[in-house]
Amino acid sequence: MNRPQLYSKYSDLQKTDNTYVLEKFLDTSRFKDEDRILDVGCGDGNFSVECLIPKLPQNFKNFVACDVSEKMLDFARTKYFLPKIKFVALDIGAEEIPEEFENSFNHIYSFYTMHWVRRQRKAFKNIYKMLAPGGDILFTFLANSSLYDIYQNMSKHERWSQHSVKEYISPYHNLKHPEKRLEKLLQDIGFEVKVCKLVTRSFLFPSMEIFKNTITAVNPIVQKLHPDEVEEYNAGFLNEMKGMKSVIIENVNNNGEKTIREIHQIFILVATKPQNKKSDTSKLE
Ligand SMILES: C[S@@+](CC[C@H](N)C(=O)[O-])C[C@H]1O[C@@H](n2cnc3c(N)ncnc32)[C@H](O)[C@@H]1O
Repeated sequence: MNRPQLYSKYSDLQKTDNTYVLEKFLDTSRFKDEDRILDVGCGDGNFSVECLIPKLPQNFKNFVACDVSEKMLDFARTKYFLPKIKFVALDIGAEEIPEEFENSFNHIYSFYTMHWVRRQRKAFKNIYKMLAPGGDILFTFLANSSLYDIYQNMSKHERWSQHSVKEYISPYHNLKHPEKRLEKLLQDIGFEVKVCKLVTRSFLFPSMEIFKNTITAVNPIVQKLHPDEVEEYNAGFLNEMKGMKSVIIENVNNNGEKTIREIHQIFILVATKPQNKKSDTSKLE
């Protein structure tokens, strides 16, 4: 993902789901004085700085917001300059994480990011490693979305078949009981899982234009196309969408435009690292 300007304007779906999760589950975080906090996949920084941080007790020591995309980080750094907040480049699925982050964070949050990560086991091992003993995590990310089915259907058309979509589909999409898979993965790593559930969410896009821009902000294929091809791709995308049960083109809005309701499933994940466990990193590799 590398379109921070577009994402910052067209991410109401993500923000609505994230806010729902924060309101219901932020009280699972056990705050103390001088907590160190990590946000994995901060993107344009908007949700971290304008929604998450104001809800935290303000006596935290520092807040590290990380992302794999330099473009996202540059955008966030330019927009938000705050003394206790640092934006850092980090691939959560990387082979190595910085040594100074090991056993370091009392709370790790992540919003709408983990579905982008192929190396789930490695990423959650890294998260476990970075968590201080007794620390907790609160994550939400996509499990199932009809948008993934549309990506897949589009790639079956000869016209677009050279653009592989496999690496952009949530690893949990269309699995039977994905929440059980995720819970088992975390338990194997050593987490104590408090909540691991799927929630069905729906979002109403107020116009086709907003829907298209929201998709374009995150669609990795559109980002690879020549500008001349985008319109044709989008037309095909909208055509595929019409067959989906969980994308409903609804009645008209006040301007006489169509509205689009999209239904998807998110994970809500709350887990802790046991108090007596420093990461025995050798066992994890
Ligand atoms: C949909 S945005 C979410 C941004 C923000 N958390 C929010 O909820 O609005 C997903 C972010 O995850 C980042 N991302 C994807 N893969 C990642 C990885 N392996 N490590 C760290 N960040 C990653 C992307 O660059 C992108 O900025």
